[in-house]
Formats: sequence, C-alpha cells, structure tokens
Amino acid sequence: MRKRSPKRLVIVSNRLPISIEWDNGKPRARHSSGGLVTALGPIMRQRGGLWIGWPGSVDKVDLGRLIPASEKPNYGLRPVWLTSDERDKFYLGFSNEVIWPLFHALQTVCNFDPEFWTMYRRVNRKYAQVAKRHAGKDDYIWVHDYHLILVAQELRRTGVTGPIGFFLHIPFPAPDIFVKMPWRREILEALLEYDILGFQTVQHRRNFIQCLRNVIGDVGLEGKGHVLRLKVAGRRISVGYFPISIDYDQFASEAGAEAVSEMARNVRQQLPDRQLVLGIDRLDYTKGIPYKLDAFRNALLRYPELRERISLVQVLVPSRADIAPYHDLKIEIDRLVGAINGEFTKSGWIPIHYIFRHLDRVELLALYRAAGIALVTPLEDGMNLVAKEYCVSSVEEDSVLILSEFAGAAVQLQRHALIVNPYDRDGVADAIHRAYHMPQEERRQRMHRLRRSIQDQNIYEWVDDFLLAGAASAPRLPATSKPVRKAARR
Ligand code: F6P
Repeated sequence: MRKRSPKRLVIVSNRLPISIEWDNGKPRARHSSGGLVTALGPIMRQRGGLWIGWPGSVDKVDLGRLIPASEKPNYGLRPVWLTSDERDKFYLGFSNEVIWPLFHALQTVCNFDPEFWTMYRRVNRKYAQVAKRHAGKDDYIWVHDYHLILVAQELRRTGVTGPIGFFLHIPFPAPDIFVKMPWRREILEALLEYDILGFQTVQHRRNFIQCLRNVIGDVGLEGKGHVLRLKVAGRRISVGYFPISIDYDQFASEAGAEAVSEMARNVRQQLPDRQLVLGIDRLDYTKGIPYKLDAFRNALLRYPELRERISLVQVLVPSRADIAPYHDLKIEIDRLVGAINGEFTKSGWIPIHYIFRHLDRVELLALYRAAGIALVTPLEDGMNLVAKEYCVSSVEEDSVLILSEFAGAAVQLQRHALIVNPYDRDGVADAIHRAYHMPQEERRQRMHRLRRSIQDQNIYEWVDDFLLAGAASAPRLPATSKPVRKAARR
C-alpha cells in the first residue's frame, strides 16, 4: 500500500496552475493566470501536497508528458476533465454567468438558467469524487473559490467527516444582492458544511453573516477579531477574514533580476521623456476598463500639460471569451482605445499602448518596473493582487499606486496609495495628475510603506493564519510554522 505523509495539504480549485492551450491542433502547457494561482503556487511549492483541478481543456492530454521536466512541480497535480457540456454550463454558465457577476454586485449581467444550477451540482459532485479518491484520511482538504461551493456537502454525503476548509477569493455580496440568487438557501447551506470559511475582508464576512440571518435564521457568534465561531441551524463553524497576498521575497528578487532590469530599461528607452501609467487586467467587466480609459482621456482633457508626458500601457489578459459580455467588452475596449488614440496621438507620442495577450513573467515584471504609476481601478474585486505585485516589484520605491476603493486590497493599502472611486472620472483624472507631479520624496515614503505592509502580511502569513484558525476547531490540520494562538491578530 502507498505510504502517505500525514496532514498533507490537498488543494481543490476549479483550475490547475497549468492550463492546456491548443495551437494548430497541438496542445501546449502554460501557467494559468489569475490571483488564485499566483497566491497558491508558492504555498504548494513550499509545502508540497496535491492540487486537484481542471487543466482548462475539454480534450484530455497527458499532463505529465506536456510539462517540461524543468517546470515539473514538486507537488502532485490531479486533473479533473470537464466535457464541453460541463465547461459550458458549469464553468462558463453557473460559475461565470451567475455567481461571478452576482457576487461582484452586477446582477443585471446574470443569466439565472436552471440548467446551469443542475450542472453546477453535478460538476461539484465530480470534483468531490476526485478529492475523495485521492485524499487520505489524514489529508487536509482545502477547497477554493466560487466554482466549488458544494464540494464539502458532496464529500459529507459520501461519509467524509474530517475537517474541510473553504476560501472565497471573490467578494461575498450584500444581502440585498445575494437574495436575487434563486438557489440562495442551497448555497448558504452548502457553505455551512465546511469547518472554516475564509473571506477576503471583514465586509465580505459581515455580508455573509447577514445573509445567513436573512435566509437561514438566528445566528450565534462567539469570539472577536478576524476569526469568529458561528452557530446556525445546528451547525458550528469558524468564519474569518484572511486578506490574501503574494510571495514578497520571490517577487522582489525576481523583479530585481538583471533580465528584468534590462527589459525595463528597454521599455523606458522606447518611450522616453514620459511617465508610463500601467494597467494590467484580466479581460473582465468587473475590472472597470472602459471607465479607466474614459478617466485617462479625461485627464488629458483636464490637464493638457500631461499630453506627450504620459502614456497608458494597458495590458488585457484574455479570459472567458466565450461569454457574451466578455466578447462585447473586448469590442468596446478596442473601440475606446482607437478613439482616444485617434483623438490625441501626435508625432512621437501615442497616448495608449494596448497589449492583448498573456505576458510571460519577465515581461510582466519589466512593465511593473518601468511604470511610474499603476492604475488599478476595478469596480469590485475580492483582493486584486496586481496592486500588490506592482508595489513589491517597485524595487526602487519610486512609483505611485492609484487604487480603487472597491478592491479588497484597499483595506490594507489605503493609507499610502491614492484611493479613487473608479466611477468618478474627475477623481481618477485628478489622481493621475497628482501622481504625475508627486515629489520623489513623497513617492519613496509611500511606496516604502506599501511594500513593508505587504512584506508583513505575505502569502506564508496568510496560509498559516488560515490553517491555525482551522486548527482551533479541527485538530488534524497540516502543521504551520507558528504555534496555535487563540487570540485574533487583526
Ligand atoms: O478568484 C477569481 C479567479 O478564480 C482567479 O483565479 C482569477 O482572477 C480568475 O478568477 C481566473 O479566471 P478563470 O479561471 O476563469 O480564467
């Protein structure tokens, strides 16, 4: 019989950190993009364990053969293969046409198709079956994100009684929005099957507790701080908020590497005598890209001295292109970029440089290094790790972060970033103007403090915090680097 190390961490998420792309009928493995993978990758590299998820393709391939030996992870990868019907109704459908827009407070974008719900249940069962098959009784199953809310309930149905944790990477909406969900009771009841639920911010946790009160009934709460004990409908679980982060040391050291410095110098040389304003977003309507472009145009109108002095480099990472609002958004952004460039371009100066593709790591870090200002303006965001990556990559500590007040990251970074309302085109234009003129000393002070704050709460703190909070209620969790504490930190 296979010998299993005790207390192994088993991550279950919709997507694996490796995605399969098809190029002229040939499969190719690339790193998946997005906050979840950025955050969990370093943890798994450090601790080992097993990662269960979908490799992003409906055609099965041999993952082991596709990943070059030099890139093979030191943890296990267990693919869950989705059929095209499952991809359409579970991933594109319920996950991204129901939960994603609703939880980002955009209920008018939702498509509450009952078939999506049926498929969501079926595919959550499928993930649960894979988890049950591959997790041992001493392993800790940690389920991630909105695609897989029902996994614990499905595991319980098959007799799994051990501790199971859940972390929601996206916002949890306010009750008046959540109640629009036809399956609101089912979703809440399923969440109560976990032993611990983690949210990004105190506000998201507050929303969840209020939804329980409105939909399920009386809620008893014990404790204080960032982890509470909650009693409802005969269940007792822990609920906490754990703002997710990145691997500070890894980002800082990679950003300072010679290849990155050289590419950053090249970027600056190609765009001389001007400050670069950087936007990096997955193509998603929650990221507020048309509002950002409009605010940038407004800055050029309100402050004509900025013309020929700043350029926006807007990177769009392709995503969920098969969903109509994403497709329409791309067309709208193309049109806006064309219109703004048509309106303002002069010989030797293009206001917006527009990139629509996945960036490799060196390109990404070089853009972070080259840009003096980052414009991170989502309409609603669980955390937004681009904001943190940008600060940590600013190894010279001479750049400015402009950040939406509706990103979870604003809770932590608000004192030293320039905080804006992304819907306020004058406010965002003023922030761009202020950032452009900000004296070096103020830039340094602000960026230094932003970086220290992220260093203090890096991804290893985050995982330890979650596992310790879980350990308080369930004794068999994977060891952390810290002693168990009862008191909350925040
Ligand atoms: O938490 C949101 C998330 O799951 C993140 O991993 C990432 O930002 C994005 O969504 C990835 O989207 P997808 O897997 O649909 O490409």
